[in-house]
Amino acid sequence: MSEVVNQSTAILLPEAEVAVYTHDPQVLEAYKALASDWRFARVDLKAAEGDVELAISTYTQYASPDVIIVQTDTIDSSFTERLAALAQNCDEGTSAIVIGPENDVNLYRSLIDMGVSDYLVRPVETPVLAEVIAKTLVEKKGVSGSTLIAVNGAKGGVGASLLSEGLACGVADILKKKTVLMDAAGGWSSLGVGLGYEPSTTLTEAVKAAESEKPDNLKRMMHDVSENLQVLATGGDVMLEQGVGADELEVLINMLLAKSPVVIVDLSHAPEALQKVVLARANLILLVSTPTLPALRLARTLISEVKDIRGGGEDDALKLVVNMQGVSPAHEVSKNDISDAVGISVSGFFPFLPKVFLGCESSGKKLTDDKEALALIEDNLLKLVKPFISSSSNSVEAGTEKSSGFMSGLLGKISKGS
Ligand SMILES: Nc1ncnc2c1ncn2[C@@H]1O[C@H](COP(=O)(O)OP(=O)(O)OP(=O)(O)O)[C@@H](O)[C@H]1O
Ligand SMILES: [Mg+2]
Repeated sequence: MSEVVNQSTAILLPEAEVAVYTHDPQVLEAYKALASDWRFARVDLKAAEGDVELAISTYTQYASPDVIIVQTDTIDSSFTERLAALAQNCDEGTSAIVIGPENDVNLYRSLIDMGVSDYLVRPVETPVLAEVIAKTLVEKKGVSGSTLIAVNGAKGGVGASLLSEGLACGVADILKKKTVLMDAAGGWSSLGVGLGYEPSTTLTEAVKAAESEKPDNLKRMMHDVSENLQVLATGGDVMLEQGVGADELEVLINMLLAKSPVVIVDLSHAPEALQKVVLARANLILLVSTPTLPALRLARTLISEVKDIRGGGEDDALKLVVNMQGVSPAHEVSKNDISDAVGISVSGFFPFLPKVFLGCESSGKKLTDDKEALALIEDNLLKLVKPFISSSSNSVEAGTEKSSGFMSGLLGKISKGS
């Protein structure tokens, strides 16, 4: 087993194209369900009703995708011959996954020998398909190493921006990871106050720079907070006008992810469409709530919506952080009851400390420069994010695209046999 195969596939997968050829409605359905899996946000999932013959004729005319999945009812030599013909029509880097009718060790061995990445038996469930495609893509393209962290408030004013700032300073200055912090709230951003910069640009301008694929323009829009932390100095947007769209924001985030190993997006006060697109694809989500009933009620609803848009089921990447504990003890839900009320456990607690937090904010002092704030950030945020941040170097690893396709496997076999 290769080293890459052992890597976690619980990541946002690299940009890629996958195509399935099948006559089986169950396979098609299982495949189409991948579209709601957050890991596949950047994967173009194509589907065709057909078999290996259709795939062959398609790729005599068009470039082949990163991964082809072929479902077959026949697994005798007539199929492997056609698969070899398909390999010859594919680009060298294309990988293949075969879905067949039954378990057959000899067939499995010969397919693997041909360079096929995996052989699955019908019926195929979505999680299995997701895992096999994810492993194939990670093996082929490597992982970008970048982590997208979304911070959102269950309700306005619960401290999401303050904790975004504390998290960003902690990841950059304590974990020593190059980090970019951005605020999706447009003209409603107040990050400049705590981090000591004047909003010199707008989200619209930042999106334009990303869309024109001029990273240098984007670089000029960054405010350097410390050696490892940059914040996108937006906030100059008009408060009462509609800002950028979800697709545009994604282009910007993609460019930031390509440049920085950690990107933190403060979603508090951002338009719903922007919250949704970032929450759907973030590697880690910190949902901030106060321990009060109104906030916890909204937290519970938001958690359920977030789970839905990320494909349903348990989501280890969704964490609840309770802030301002003690602001009004008589009206707060107790620590133990919060988990029952919202349906997930509490991953972090911050006490109400106006002297520390409002003090830092109003004097422009970094939260990590305050002993008390730093200890809280380490215990409640950095511990949480550490497992989600790549332990690799501080530069973004570009995809180490390899010729791991089945065309090269086939060529290897031919040269072995000759
Ligand atoms: N634990 C805390 N103790 C004391 N003050 C806090 C605490 N957390 C946040 N604050 C203060 O509460 C105010 C609101 O915080 P912040 O702006 O981060 O909230 P938000 O959730 O981002 O709000 P919005 O919904 O407007 O974006 C700030 O002045 C901040 O300094
Ligand atoms: Mg905010």
